[in-house]
Amino acid sequence: MENSEKKYLITSALPYANGALHLGHLAGAYLPADIYVRYLRLMGRDVVWVCGSDEHGAAITIRAKKEGVSPQEIIDKYHRLNKDTFEKLGISFDYYHRTSAELHHRTSQDFFMRLYEKGDEFEEQVIEQYYDEAYDQFLADRYIQGTCPKCGYDSAFGDQCESCGSDLSPTELINPVSTLSGQRPVLKPTKHWYFKLDKHAGWLREWISEGVLDGVQHHDPRTWKKHVIGQCLSWLDEGLQPRSITRDLSWGIAVPLPDAQGKVLYVWFDAPIGYISATRQWAAEQGVDWEAYWKGDQVELIHFIGKDNIVFHCIVFPAMLKAHGEFALPRNVPANQFLNFEGQKFSKSRGWGIEQHDYLETFRDFPNKEDALRYVLIRNMPENRDSDFKWDEFVEFHDKELADNLGNFINRVAVLTHKYFEGKVPVTGVELADAHPKVLEIVEKLRHELEAFSFKAAVQTLMELSSYGNGYLQDVSPWKIWKEDPADPRIAACMFASLQICGLLSILMEPFIPFSAAKVRQLFGLPPLAPGMLATALDVLRSGGSLLPTGHIIGEPFILFAKIQDRKDPVRMELIQEQKAKLEAIMQEEKQEERVPLKEAIDYDAFAKIDLRTGTITAAEKVEKADKLLKLSIDLGMEKRTVVSGIAEYYTPEEVVGQQIVLVANLAPRKLRGIMSEGMILMAENTEGKLTFVSPASPDWGNGFVVR
Ligand code: 2FM
Ligand code: ZN
Repeated sequence: MENSEKKYLITSALPYANGALHLGHLAGAYLPADIYVRYLRLMGRDVVWVCGSDEHGAAITIRAKKEGVSPQEIIDKYHRLNKDTFEKLGISFDYYHRTSAELHHRTSQDFFMRLYEKGDEFEEQVIEQYYDEAYDQFLADRYIQGTCPKCGYDSAFGDQCESCGSDLSPTELINPVSTLSGQRPVLKPTKHWYFKLDKHAGWLREWISEGVLDGVQHHDPRTWKKHVIGQCLSWLDEGLQPRSITRDLSWGIAVPLPDAQGKVLYVWFDAPIGYISATRQWAAEQGVDWEAYWKGDQVELIHFIGKDNIVFHCIVFPAMLKAHGEFALPRNVPANQFLNFEGQKFSKSRGWGIEQHDYLETFRDFPNKEDALRYVLIRNMPENRDSDFKWDEFVEFHDKELADNLGNFINRVAVLTHKYFEGKVPVTGVELADAHPKVLEIVEKLRHELEAFSFKAAVQTLMELSSYGNGYLQDVSPWKIWKEDPADPRIAACMFASLQICGLLSILMEPFIPFSAAKVRQLFGLPPLAPGMLATALDVLRSGGSLLPTGHIIGEPFILFAKIQDRKDPVRMELIQEQKAKLEAIMQEEKQEERVPLKEAIDYDAFAKIDLRTGTITAAEKVEKADKLLKLSIDLGMEKRTVVSGIAEYYTPEEVVGQQIVLVANLAPRKLRGIMSEGMILMAENTEGKLTFVSPASPDWGNGFVVR
């Protein structure tokens, strides 16, 4: 068997056990790995796929606090939910571990100590960190909220502003507040251990851009996705810094040093080590040697992740592995981009999107719900750019491709075999490989795409195979020949070849839509799939053999994919309509909320106090160090004014010179950025916050007119 010496160690990002996963997660890191691993298994390769729950970090403790329960309760609940849901969707991990396991704690501490004992991988730093005096503890970045210095959003977190997306450090926040006590935290010195990532920059760059490691070609960088390499290089260009790998927290893995009381390993230090501990646990249960999958040249380590985890898997973790010295580095990190939902980001708080377990519950009576979902997610996989899940496409792909193309071919072959040959594979002198070289070409293309992590292309190639089958059936039209002469050997030849294609489809479907593949196996009286079966099938076909030999008896035909759009049975389509209606309702509600309510009524005198005058902007310039402000000179007819206006995000200075405006001329002057601003220009603001000038489009217009 080919590549028999290679050991494939496949990983998928360990999801935090603090919530349910949505379809974007599935399409990002789990479904692509499942396709790849199922394919490797069918090829008879030696493969292990590990994953598990990421159970440390502030995300867990914050969730626990919100729900008023212990962190242990949170991780137990979501570990179980996520593990079960993956199983139901056919996500076929070899092991789903958890980072709270004792073996993981030990593995992480040993890893830490190994680097510590090397002497030159870590450095100690005493830093000033926020401390909550009421709670007597240091605060994780996520436990501090305040005003974002970049955009002014008042609930930014200590590590990131969720409004403008900027990465922050807690000391940058304006008016920081501890989310534990609600009080202002104080800065206190604390010691931490830093991994000297900077000293690994040289070889990392060579490894990422050229695929060269220790002077040897490790992988072909052309096989890595461009966006992955791009993100890594831009990080390297910015310069790597030592990274703190310890935290003052009570939840996590204790730092195994005498002078580290009350400190734990940073969650991003222990999480990727979770891949190693998961492999160890799996190997212990299987009675095999885990090191064979992590150490040595034959190891093919592949990390499946979403794009937000690229840096950890392509820079930080490889540096940790290299510093450790015994481990193999990833051969590829085929990270995906993000999946959106009907054109917008998934958002739990808005109710936008659908979680995996909710999908299964909502579609519980829907036949093929697992494969229907898998198929549409693969068909639109965000492999190289962000993509979108749309209910309309869900229907279209299911009905036109799964039902009309694949399902239809399989059904026709089964029905015709029963009709012409009583469900028995006919006698014929035909060899599939000889008579239909195109079939094996399509299979080779499909394999090539799978090996290159091009799953979206691969699933379309699968459809090409059933299209070929459908086209062939149509060309021969055995039903026409049958009317003339039921004994015509062309009928047997056609059905024989079609049955072999079905046999092949029953294997090739499995990585993508495993539930349906199993049904097709059953339909054609074939045994359940087992490791190596694709490799064997290809050998058989190439040497002139057949997958369904003459005399083989097939089962009774049935409809593999019941169409969603079915006038006689509208329940499936109604379910889809309900999903769309829910989204429509969310949008309507949000539109209502957006409408700015009218202010309280005022009397005429209050209005008459405002002196509004027409004018023209005669000069404009940017205000230094203020992104939003322009300094404007206004001609008011009888006099000139200087006004500082917050319109720089929408207009350049050049654009506004000559603009006619209406000015609140009797507003008390005030200083903005050291400039005295004399009045305010009227602007209209649309629902997206975009500003437009209020100006009269009249030929009789002039400067200094009174507006009332
Ligand atoms: O982003 C996340 O959801 C992390 N829990 C992923 C960890 S991946 C790995 F390092 F374990
Ligand atoms: Zn911000």
